[in-house]
Amino acid sequence: MPTLQERHAAALATLTDADQAHALRFYDDLDEAQRDQLLTQIEGIDWPEVARLIQSHVLNNPPLHLPSDIQPAPCYPQSPTSDLADHYNKAKSLGEQLLRDGVVAAFTVAGGQGTRLGWDAPKGTFPATPVTGRPLFGVFADYISKAQQKYNCTIPWFVMTSPANHQPTVDYFKENDYFGLDPNHVTHFPQAMMPAIGLTGDQQGKVLLASKDSLALSPNGHGGSLKALHTSGAIADMKSRGISQISYTQVDNPTVHVVDPLFIGLHAIDNAQMSSKMLPKTGPKEKLGNFCFADGKMTVIEYSDLPDELAFQTTPDGDLKFRAGSIAIHMINVGFVEQLSTSPTGFALPFHRAEKKVPCIDLNTATPIDPDEPNAVKLETFVFDALPLCDNSILYETDRVEEFAPIKNADNPPGEPVAVDSAASSKLLQTERAARWLEKNKVTVARDAEGNVNATIEISTRTAISPDDLSAVDLPKSIKVGESIAI
Ligand code: UTP
Repeated sequence: MPTLQERHAAALATLTDADQAHALRFYDDLDEAQRDQLLTQIEGIDWPEVARLIQSHVLNNPPLHLPSDIQPAPCYPQSPTSDLADHYNKAKSLGEQLLRDGVVAAFTVAGGQGTRLGWDAPKGTFPATPVTGRPLFGVFADYISKAQQKYNCTIPWFVMTSPANHQPTVDYFKENDYFGLDPNHVTHFPQAMMPAIGLTGDQQGKVLLASKDSLALSPNGHGGSLKALHTSGAIADMKSRGISQISYTQVDNPTVHVVDPLFIGLHAIDNAQMSSKMLPKTGPKEKLGNFCFADGKMTVIEYSDLPDELAFQTTPDGDLKFRAGSIAIHMINVGFVEQLSTSPTGFALPFHRAEKKVPCIDLNTATPIDPDEPNAVKLETFVFDALPLCDNSILYETDRVEEFAPIKNADNPPGEPVAVDSAASSKLLQTERAARWLEKNKVTVARDAEGNVNATIEISTRTAISPDDLSAVDLPKSIKVGESIAI
């Protein structure tokens, strides 16, 4: 074990090479534990990469390289056309078989900071459901329990955290007894962090300090999940359990299908390495990435990067030509993640820059700074940037009410309109989906003149993960106006 002194000398040399020696400026003021913390943070960072990114992404704005020929991505429709009916049947049977064979793992990325939501705990602990306020992690755990029961299998669950929320997340699972799941089949692992880089004044091009004993760190983006799956040992663990397919979902969507036999089967039957679900966009500028096909590869172009002349193009039927929005639901082969990790270029996902307000200390005086304007660049990679690295990738269209009720933003104060992608908008969508499932099962649901559900309904993912699961449930004949009911 190197001593603190040896670690300090090594860190100083590395930082000096990267022109970031100021990160140790207040080292002499720290006690041993603080020194250890700061050195551990410094040792966890790829400083040559940071130095390179400061040049390319902070001191300069990287040029946008769009492929020359951008086409809409081919997509499997939500319901099969007659020529696809047989393919869908086969795919669904294959997906169910893969679940029964126990080769599919669930993977939730929960390493984000959730700054927009403003919830002072890991986002997965947020009470998400409309009647019982079940936390997001509980909703997914119940989904997994139900799927395990339905397919008579084990679905190991991998949850990616970040160093900032790892321990509270693990503690939360323990306090809640893993929501009834077998702890041997639930794995938490943290992703890597990146330092925020100053954008203005004296701090330009310098890694920021949150305090004398801490860098201003944030998780390195959901793209970091692919590397973290490998470096954490999760991939090796999956292989030892016989897992070959990973069902990737985000922590903030309570209606997501944590594992979906049809999607799993469509992905597997076409030998895809990484596949995606999409939603038809509500308009040309909806803030969803666009699935495109360019240079023979599936690719996602961010909404802000897709040129207007493409974004506004329509088909002869008047639909958007580029209509496929990304909702961050993927199937990923274990072999593909392994292949990326052994690639001679490493996990070469491109970094994206985002200008943010990052609280920090003055690098000379240690006075706290709480900026009103963006003062830093955060650097992140995005998981969908792995799509162009695939030889095969399929896209499947899903339905907004069926599986997209994201909780990203804080609720508006009472009396104001429902905020976009908030807990309130999510609860309305969850109720609408529950109503549809009940109506499919011949339950009458109170709706107003506009067709909106006039009640609050929750169907637990422990009860049903698809409408047909309700056929085995003792359902009410009707849901009345103003009723609040959990099933
Ligand atoms: P978002 O892009 O919505 O970010 O993450 P966020 O961190 O949750 O929220 P804001 O932007 O700070 O308000 C989408 C999904 O990707 C995960 C999040 O946990 C969420 O499930 N994510 C994001 C990570 O796991 N790691 C990251 O570094 C970033």
